[in-house]
This record gives sequence, structure tokens and C-alpha cells, in this order.
Amino acid sequence: MTDNTSHGSSTPDHEEETTRRYYETSDVDAFYDAVWGGEDIHIGLYAHAREAIADASRRTVRHAADRVADLLGPDATVLDLGSGYGGSARALAERFGCRVVALDLSEEHNRRHRAANARRGLDGLVEVVTGSLCDLPHDADRFDVVWSLEVLCHVTDRDRALAEAVRVLKPGGALVFSDIMAAEETPDEVLRPALSRLGVRSLATLSFYLEQLSALGLKPCFEDRTADLTTHYARLDEEVHRRRAELRTVISPDYVEDLLTNLPLWADITHRGLLRWGLFHARQTEAGPRRGPAPGP
Ligand SMILES: C[S@@+](CC[C@H](N)C(=O)[O-])C[C@H]1O[C@@H](n2cnc3c(N)ncnc32)[C@H](O)[C@@H]1O
Repeated sequence: MTDNTSHGSSTPDHEEETTRRYYETSDVDAFYDAVWGGEDIHIGLYAHAREAIADASRRTVRHAADRVADLLGPDATVLDLGSGYGGSARALAERFGCRVVALDLSEEHNRRHRAANARRGLDGLVEVVTGSLCDLPHDADRFDVVWSLEVLCHVTDRDRALAEAVRVLKPGGALVFSDIMAAEETPDEVLRPALSRLGVRSLATLSFYLEQLSALGLKPCFEDRTADLTTHYARLDEEVHRRRAELRTVISPDYVEDLLTNLPLWADITHRGLLRWGLFHARQTEAGPRRGPAPGP
């Protein structure tokens, strides 16, 4: 079964260092940049099976933002956990005029993120912070919306990550996130060959998130878009095949070949129904959040 807790051999610091190194590897960065287009690194919502990955990924941001649009405007502040290249932060700031605090482990992503914000004239609205989502440097009750797309798969101590997110949420605020999950009965070992490329040890399950969010005093909604995960990995595999020669000019040939071995594994496990993906949207219940201190490491 999947392991949703911090138990295991790797410590949170070691795990974060592995993740940071993964995203800062030049081949990995060049892959995400070339194939997603430099704004987003998350699963797309596809209008059709041949749609450009960048367009589908932009739709994910718009769709998630629609879920919390009632909370967003010039007086609101969003916290984007694991903000990557900053595509979500810029889209939210441009659409709603809200402030965004964007936090990511990777100083390299943050450097690119700040440069893109400056080019778009958004550096006054988006503050980019280097840090861990398991240990937020913010006071309680600070944000109208806490947002996180495709980040929690990298975190083993997901209880702590969710407790931190809820701690900094204002009363009446909303948490919106997406994550690649294991289907309930999927054994970790079956996923390991595909996950190894990302340095991810195990995935959460839908029931884990629903239980944790309820325990934290939120009313969770989950929109199941697992079919888009299947389309997304098929599209990634197609793109790398189609652009193989061009990608070998910006990504080392060995890494391109590794991708061509690894991406079909993802396509296979999504087809076999071993994964789930979708959007969570959780708001505080009338009873309010249960805000004990975040659990220790
Ligand atoms: C798949 S990318 C998603 C980026 C962005 N959310 C998006 O949708 O484009 C995952 C990002 O999460 C960041 N990340 C992973 N673990 C983190 C942690 N514990 N704390 C903060 N950021 C983290 C990585 O550095 C990377 O930028």
C-alpha cells in the first residue's frame, strides 16, 4: 500500500535536497522548459487528445482559479506552494489583481520566476520566496487562498504539509490543489519504476486527502480528472518522440533516451487505472479549522 507518512529512511531535509537537485538538473529543466513552454509544470486539462501541452496546462490554472474566484480580488492574497516557473502566480495576479506570495524550494526556479514577473510588470504583486512548504515562514490566518499544483507528490510528510497550509489560511479561506495519486489498492512497488525519474518514493491516495482535509476542519470537494492524466502522459510521450532530434540539441541525448523509456511506463500505469488525478477544493466548515500546532518532523 502507499505510504502517506513521514516514516521511512529519507529525512525531510534529504528529501527536499533530492527534489531541489532534480528540478535544478539542466536536462530536467530543459525538458520542462521545452515541452511545457516555460510557464507551467503540471497536468493539463485537455480540450482534445491532440491539444498542445502548454494550452492544456493553462486551462488547469484557469479552471482551478474559477473554483476560488469568489475569494479573489485586489484585497486578497494567495499563497502558491511550490510555485515553479510562476505561471499560476502570474495568471492569478493578472486576472484578479490579487497579491501572490509564491514559495518554492528551488532558487533556480525562483530566479526564473522573478525575471518573468519583472518582464510582465508583475513584480509589485508577486513576491517570490525560497522555502519549504512543510515549514512556512508565515503567521497564521494570513491568506485568502492557498494554492498548490503538482507539488505534494514530492513530499512524504503530507500531513504536515496540509496542516501548514491550513494554519496560514484565513477563516473562510480555501485550499485548492492537485496531485498525482495512487489508486487505493495500488502497491508502491508497481509504481516505483515510473516514479524513480522524479525521485518520488510513493504517492498519496484520494482517501488519505479526504480524511486529512476533514480532520483539519475543511469540507473537501474532489473533481476527478484522471482521464486528463492519461491524455497528458500520452501527449508527453508523443511530443518527446516527435521532437526527439530537436530535443537532443537542448537536452543530453542520454536523458532524451531515458525519457523515451520512462514516459511509456507512466502511460502504461495510467491506462491500467493505477493512478488518480484531479483538483481538490476545500473550504473551512462552519465549525472552523482545527488549528493545533503543525506536527513535528
Ligand atoms: C511539478 S513542479 C510544479 C510547479 C508549479 N506548481 C506549476 O504548477 O507549474 C513542482 C515544484 O514544487 C517545488 N517543490 C517540491 N517540493 C517542495 C517543498 N517541500 N517545498 C517547496 N517547494 C517544493 C519544486 O521545486 C518545483 O518547483
